[in-house]
Parts: sequence; structure tokens; C-alpha cells
Amino acid sequence: MPRAPDEPVLDVRRLSVRFALPKPTLFARRSHLRAVRDVSFALQPGRTLGLVGESGSGKTTTAMAAIRLLAAAEGEVLFRGRDLLKLDAEAMRAERRNVQVIFQDPYSSLNPRDRVRTIVREPLDLMRGGESMAAREARVAELVREVGLRHDQLDLFPHQFSGGQRQRIAIARALATNPQVVVCDEPVSALDVAIQAQILNLLRRLQDERGLSYLFISHDLGVVQHICDDVAVMYLGQIVEQADRASLFGQPRHPYTATLLAAAPSLARRKSARTARQHVPRGDPPSPFRLPAGCTFAARCPRAEARCREAAPALRDVGGTRVACHFPLGG
Ligand SMILES: Nc1ncnc2c1ncn2[C@@H]1O[C@H](COP(=O)(O)OP(=O)(O)OP(=O)(O)O)[C@@H](O)[C@H]1O
Ligand code: SF4
Ligand SMILES: [Mg+2]
Repeated sequence: MPRAPDEPVLDVRRLSVRFALPKPTLFARRSHLRAVRDVSFALQPGRTLGLVGESGSGKTTTAMAAIRLLAAAEGEVLFRGRDLLKLDAEAMRAERRNVQVIFQDPYSSLNPRDRVRTIVREPLDLMRGGESMAAREARVAELVREVGLRHDQLDLFPHQFSGGQRQRIAIARALATNPQVVVCDEPVSALDVAIQAQILNLLRRLQDERGLSYLFISHDLGVVQHICDDVAVMYLGQIVEQADRASLFGQPRHPYTATLLAAAPSLARRKSARTARQHVPRGDPPSPFRLPAGCTFAARCPRAEARCREAAPALRDVGGTRVACHFPLGG
């Protein structure tokens, strides 16, 4: 079904994910970890949406559930007008070619016993009713060239490449089926800074050439500022702030976002970081097993008032930013 020009390519609505935890005893009730709670966001065509937040905030779980590599408990994920979460296995297998993923560690995501040509060709081999072997081989050769590897490297194994080159192989493999959406889960975190820049530039070039949409997970706000058009900040399984890049880095609205910016040494935007330093939170986040009533950031937030501990703030628009805070910065 053709999309209207400004219709999101991926529209995630009220997504929740729960993990069943092992029972402490045979007759005990099973408890669940609510890893992602009521998360909504829209990925626009040809744009990059960053997902940031502390370790354990639910970034990977959100992205994997959105492309059905993990089971969601609730929600909708509209892709080209169809809810991916409602597709049967066969229909989802057909859509899989359109939503691909690149992981942090290319060494563990690439089969060490396969040659590059097999690794990159495999997604094409798995497509039913696909092209002839000769056509697939030609596509693989073209992809390998596009990501900056040489034709004579097609018959090498992953261990014969550097980390950056391995990530290029993983990118070629992810693009083999011509996807529209690519989830990039910390794709440069394992690489040296100089190599990071090369891979980020490659991802941008491929995005321009192919009109790709990226859901880009990173803990490095310098990287996010470099590559993302829009940014969503996660805290304890929820989005607490979402805005375009300039708004989020120039005028953070949520006290938690301000904290993240203050703690990011790689950011060019020093002024907002200075402002934010006044809001550095105390202590650790609460346990995800015993979430407090009200705002989950209240115990660490210097702006907290009685209302924050009583009522959870809903996401709302403040000056073009979506923010979940009763008393947003600059609001
Ligand atoms: N398979 C699982 N079983 C149980 N709990 C899980 C599982 N996977 C993730 N979790 C929990 O869900 C929460 C979110 O984890 P997730 O990996 O999505 O966080 P993240 O933001 O990607 O963190 P990181 O930056 O460390 O990658 C965490 O509390 C984590 O411990
Ligand atoms: S709702 Fe209150 S506690 Fe939560 S972030 Fe806003 S000011 Fe802080
Ligand atoms: Mg993760």
C-alpha cells in the first residue's frame, strides 16, 4: 500500500514488553519485569530516530519488539499500514526483508565459519521465490562494493577482517534484501573513534542513496548528535522526552535528559551541558520490580515536588517537545 508523503514508515503505539522471571519456588507466583511500558514513537521515512538512555532503560527491548524479534505484551507496530504484531508467521517472514537489524558486535553476529559471500547472500537465499543464484551473487558483489570492501575479499572469513570491516559486512548483509527500516543497536560502540566516524559516514551515505529509515540506539550522545534527526530518551522502560535533535540538545525539557547531557563529555554544545549540571541526579534508579507511584524519576530529581510522587506525568507537548514531566525545564 503506498504511503502518504509524511506518513511514518514505522508507527509504534503503546508498546509494552514483559519478561517472565524464574519462580523462586515451585508454588510461587511467577512475577514479570515490565521492561518497556507504553512506548509510542513514529519513525519518519528517510530519517534517523535515536533511542538513548542508561543501560537497562529498555532501548534494545523496545527496538527488538518493534520489529518482532522479541514478543510484545501489548501495542501496535504499523508498517506500511499493517500491524506487524498481528501478522501470522508466514506474513511476518515476508515482511522481515523490509525491517533489518545491525548489532553492536559484528563478530558475534556473523557466522565465523561462513565466507563473506555466504554471509551477505544468506538473507537472499532465505527469500522464497527469490532470484537465481547468479543474480544473488551479482547483488552480493554490488553490496560489498557499496560498503567499501573489495571484490577479492568475498571469499575471506570474518576473522580475517578488522572490527570496522566486519561492521561493513554486517551492514551489507542487513541491506541485502533492500529494507526500508534498519535498527542499528549500538553499531559503532565497539569501534575506535576514527573507525566510528567512517562507519557513521557510511550509514549516512547509504541512507541518502537508499532512503533508509534508521532506529538508532546509542549510549554515546556525541554519536547521536552526529547522526540522528530526532531523539527519544528512555528511562525505566518509558520515553520521557522526544524531540528533534536541535531542540533536544539545545533545550532539554526533562530533568533526566539534562542529566544525560551534563554527563556526556563528547558533546559540542557546552552551554546546555553547563545549565544541566545543576540538575545532576542523586542515587540510583528505582528497581524495575518495584516501580514507585508517580514519576519514576522523582527520587533523583532536584525539581521534584509532592505532586510528582502522587501522579505519573503523561507525555505532552511543550514547545514542540514531547515530555513526561510536571515541571519541565524552560516550560
Ligand atoms: N531476556 C530477558 N529476560 C529478562 N529480563 C530482560 C531480558 N532482556 C532484557 N531484560 C531486562 O529488561 C530491561 C531492559 O533491558 P534492555 O537490554 O532493553 O536495556 P538497554 O537500554 O538496551 O540497555 P544497554 O544499554 O545495557 O544495552 C533491563 O532491566 C534488563 O535487565
Ligand atoms: S515530574 Fe517531577 S520528579 Fe518527575 S522529572 Fe518532572 S519535576 Fe522531576
Ligand atoms: Mg541494549
